[in-house]
Amino acid sequence: MHIEFTLNEQQMSLDVPADRPVVRVLREDKGLTSVKECCGLGECGGCTILVDGQSRLSCLMLAAQLQGRRIMTLEGLSTSEKLHPLQEAFVRHGAVQCGYCTPGMVLAACDLLQRNPHPDRQEIKAGLAGNICRCTGYQKIVDAVDAACTTDKDSGRGY
Ligand code: FES
Ligand code: FES
Repeated sequence: MHIEFTLNEQQMSLDVPADRPVVRVLREDKGLTSVKECCGLGECGGCTILVDGQSRLSCLMLAAQLQGRRIMTLEGLSTSEKLHPLQEAFVRHGAVQCGYCTPGMVLAACDLLQRNPHPDRQEIKAGLAGNICRCTGYQKIVDAVDAACTTDKDSGRGY
């Protein structure tokens, strides 16, 4: 199948099997290794991407569903000079523990902050509930998202 979509703000034109999982299109065909294939069952959030600004599980999407969409992975969030404020907060608060769940966490947090720019800690936990951290825990991750909201409030910057 021929598909056209936007990937990290670049126009893409690909010939792929319509039923190829999007996580494999992005990670294996396009080399975007922030996209993790972990459970492959829609249960862990490791494969989270943004589709038209909303977080989606790329292991549950098929290539045909990319047609005409705007896709963002963690690689598209920062520039070579500057990290996204959420990434900066994750680094500052020690929330990149082993780092395996971090891309999905950051993108899920992006989606949350677009819908609710100033969530309280319970809302942050609920917003990240679909993303599992296997190695350490959630305290520093919630701290980082909380701090990013405060930075956002102070700077007037939007997500
Ligand atoms: Fe997609 Fe676990 S790999 S949710
Ligand atoms: Fe290791 Fe979350 S930081 S799995």
